[in-house]
Amino acid sequence: MQNTSWVPLFPEQASTFAWQVDALYFYLIFVSVAFSIPIIAAIFFFSMKYRAKEKYATPDEIHGSMVLETVWSIIPFVISMTIFLGGAIIYFQQYTPPDDAMEIYVVGKQWMWKVQHETGQREINELHVPVGRKIKLTMTTEDVLHDFSIPAFRTKADVVPGRYTYMWFEATKPGKYHLYCAEYCGLNHSGMGGWVYVMEQRDFDNWLSGNVSGQTPVEAGKDLFQNKLGCASCHAGGAGQRGAKLEGIFNTDVKLVGGQTVKADDQYIRNSILNPASQVVEGYQPIMPTFKGQVTEEQLNSLVAYIKSLSPGAAAPTGSAPAAAPAMSANTNTAAANKTAPVKPAANSNK
Ligand code: CUA
Repeated sequence: MQNTSWVPLFPEQASTFAWQVDALYFYLIFVSVAFSIPIIAAIFFFSMKYRAKEKYATPDEIHGSMVLETVWSIIPFVISMTIFLGGAIIYFQQYTPPDDAMEIYVVGKQWMWKVQHETGQREINELHVPVGRKIKLTMTTEDVLHDFSIPAFRTKADVVPGRYTYMWFEATKPGKYHLYCAEYCGLNHSGMGGWVYVMEQRDFDNWLSGNVSGQTPVEAGKDLFQNKLGCASCHAGGAGQRGAKLEGIFNTDVKLVGGQTVKADDQYIRNSILNPASQVVEGYQPIMPTFKGQVTEEQLNSLVAYIKSLSPGAAAPTGSAPAAAPAMSANTNTAAANKTAPVKPAANSNK
């Protein structure tokens, strides 16, 4: 593997964050060295100069110095604030994904990383991305806590059961970079890794077209929504439906029963599928059954992607954008509703 960084201990710098993280790190090393050396030197010097020459001598009294105390308070304060600010700024940038990023789904599982692109391609323990593009990873796990880590990009994020976490980066040069799981997750934790391939846009497009797989997440989600899970039988939109309207909700504020308001983001959609009774939209009954245990994490990602695609303005479609929100006509609704019997009525605690 290529390793061109000037300190060979460090992984290559291959993202826009890399130099910032390294600069902060070197600053910390510099500050540590700049304090350690004078302190150690002073210890030796004083131990020589002020060593007890006669036993039981009475030392001089010292009454303190305002100037000295002020100086040794202000200098460390300024230094610690620069460390804090540097860290906070980098952290804020790293954990605020930009809106125009290309979105990729990642699902962790003992002991592999499953990746799916917006255009449908899937990979395991590999991640192909174009150079110079902002990439946002939406991540979750099927089992325990993992941590997605790409040292050459100086970025990592925990992948937590039951929720989405995000990571974003922009690779700056083509190459092959290590990908790790950085959270102990069981027997084969050390083997849970792979490679990130950063490619020129043209090579990436070739790679994409050479790896066509069945459905995109949006298509798979639509299939689940309309056919396999029968969501459309209640959520077809329009007036008089039993289920809340889903078109155009993404990234908007939704009013809940009880007066609370929540933002309809990925987490909200996911939670509404798994724990429907916990956030009931105002004006609707808590009759939706839970789909916990019936859908895999990847299917959940697809459903979320599909529901996002119903809000064309809000989601940031990149790559192969989902066609304009499929307006479900009354015919297809009833057809879907007839085909798939209403979902698990037994689970309803219908009042
Ligand atoms: Cu997954 Cu360690």
